[in-house]
Amino acid sequence: MKVAVIYESRTGNTARAAQMIGAALQDLENEVGVWPTDKVNLDFLTDADLVFLGTWTDGLIIAGHRPGGSAHLLAMPGIWNKPTVGFVTYAFRAGKVVDKLADVVTLLGGKWLGGRAFQRDDLPDGVAGFVIAAVDAVEGVEVSG
Ligand SMILES: Cc1cc2nc3c(=O)[nH]c(=O)nc-3n(C[C@H](O)[C@H](O)[C@H](O)COP(=O)(O)O)c2cc1C
Repeated sequence: MKVAVIYESRTGNTARAAQMIGAALQDLENEVGVWPTDKVNLDFLTDADLVFLGTWTDGLIIAGHRPGGSAHLLAMPGIWNKPTVGFVTYAFRAGKVVDKLADVVTLLGGKWLGGRAFQRDDLPDGVAGFVIAAVDAVEGVEVSG
């Protein structure tokens, strides 16, 4: 498959998560592109079979969690009904940020497959399993039409 990994990152954690996801996808023999939201390769995205969209957790630590850099996420190219998986990084508590990222993906036109939050200091814990599950999910969608 052709897989686009797109991220928003202020201090590098989500960029690191995106690179790890990209490396795991490559290990599974997918063709992969990894970019920040403002540098997406449109030709690649147009042809992509699967999209990963990631960002950081913005909030008041205990409440008000939301996807960081939402304006940048919403300003990126549309996802045109492509299966899309979300990922976020956080420091202490992510709250419902993954659900809110699902809303952003829907606004961008993507087809939400699910997502997950990663504690920034525990990376790459969980990344490989997350990527395998996402690839299985999209292959299931394609098989069932
Ligand atoms: C303004 C601001 C608000 C944040 N709010 C939260 C929060 O509510 N909960 C949390 O767990 N982390 C919070 N964080 C931490 C970041 O989500 C975390 O460090 C993340 O990994 C940063 O990703 P980045 O390095 O890709 O920018 C906040 C960070 C910033 C700058």
